[in-house]
Amino acid sequence: MTRLVTEADLPSLLVVNGDDAVTRYLPYPSWRSLEDARNWYARMSALQATGAALQFAVLEKQSGAAIGSCLLFRHDEASARAELGYVLGRAHWGQGYMQEALRALAACAFGELNLRRLEAEVDPRNPRSSLLLERLGFAREGRLRERWLTKGEPADVNVYGLLNREWRRPG
Ligand SMILES: CC(C)(COP(=O)(O)OP(=O)(O)OC[C@H]1O[C@@H](n2cnc3c(N)ncnc32)[C@H](O)[C@@H]1OP(=O)(O)O)[C@@H](O)C(=O)NCCC(=O)NCCS
Repeated sequence: MTRLVTEADLPSLLVVNGDDAVTRYLPYPSWRSLEDARNWYARMSALQATGAALQFAVLEKQSGAAIGSCLLFRHDEASARAELGYVLGRAHWGQGYMQEALRALAACAFGELNLRRLEAEVDPRNPRSSLLLERLGFAREGRLRERWLTKGEPADVNVYGLLNREWRRPG
């Protein structure tokens, strides 16, 4: 289940983004305090207000607690495309939760929002993330060298893309 992130989700999202195993292949440092969480929320809210991003909380159905987040960002209206990002708390890996959340997000992006193309960038050393995108039907389209600075080190990324017409194709 997903809905837009609210300030009340920040303690739960601090657990997710405060884990070095979760942020290992991401180009930002682990959050260390609620202040880090609040700063992120302020930046995200400002971006969301411009229409360039939508940030969702991924909720555990039973408890309603945020166990991760996923977002559409770098929305390019003229080309009808956007990028996907996602993080899930380590305790919840291996259960198909992010797949379920991203299917709903892609359905919204290709349906209601009428985007033509979704993109994602993934560190090639991050097999869980690559597998997730491949299961959703994304194609690996190329490699950008030293695209990110991850924990102070340059890191290559693989670029993945999924087209609306591929998503809609039956079977
Ligand atoms: C990337 C990330 C979200 C993937 O999480 P995940 O739980 O592996 O992803 P999915 O939701 O696709 O779940 C797939 C797993 O659930 C299992 N699963 C169980 N029930 C399932 C179901 N009903 N449907 C689908 N998969 C199911 C699959 O077998 C698979 O497990 P396996 O990989 O151990 O075989 C997570 O590893 C993460 O947050 N990493 C850190 C942040 C990050 O790297 N973000 C991406 C940046 S590019």
